[in-house]
Amino acid sequence: MGLFSKDIKTFDDLFMHTLQDIYYAENQITQALPKMIAKASDPQLKQGFQTHLSETKNQIKRLEQVFKLAGHSPKGVNCPAIDGILEEADEIAGEVADKEVLDAALIASAQAVEHYEMTRYGTLVSWARQLGHEDWAKLLQQNLNEEQATDKKLTAMAEGKVNRRAA
Ligand SMILES: [Fe+2]
Ligand SMILES: [Fe+2]
Repeated sequence: MGLFSKDIKTFDDLFMHTLQDIYYAENQITQALPKMIAKASDPQLKQGFQTHLSETKNQIKRLEQVFKLAGHSPKGVNCPAIDGILEEADEIAGEVADKEVLDAALIASAQAVEHYEMTRYGTLVSWARQLGHEDWAKLLQQNLNEEQATDKKLTAMAEGKVNRRAA
């Protein structure tokens, strides 16, 4: 955004800016997940991250479809929020020595990521509808559903075994 001009003038501009934000975030997440896969010890957690990595790649494709439907080329815009969440995830993981405690830390970090994505997709779905684009809303809703399902699976793994082992 320019220092002397306000680049977001309309609700459409605001939608597009937020779409670019999550597009950037999803791309950063595809860089971060392989590191989390490598660090996870529990096979189910490792597999869960692996599954979500393929889902994330597919989510990026859906975002590209929304850009296309909106007549824009896909482009990211810096998102300091996701950078911060991923940086913190990395930092914490680097400070945990015990493998079982590390799994609990990885789940907590991953859930922070999922919740960030959920807030963005929730907003984008409702803005797309308000703008009269049910087709964009449907694609974004699919991404939102996957983030929510992932979040639930992570809670189940944490509460079902990982936290107990870490304690
Ligand atoms: Fe995602
Ligand atoms: Fe996600």
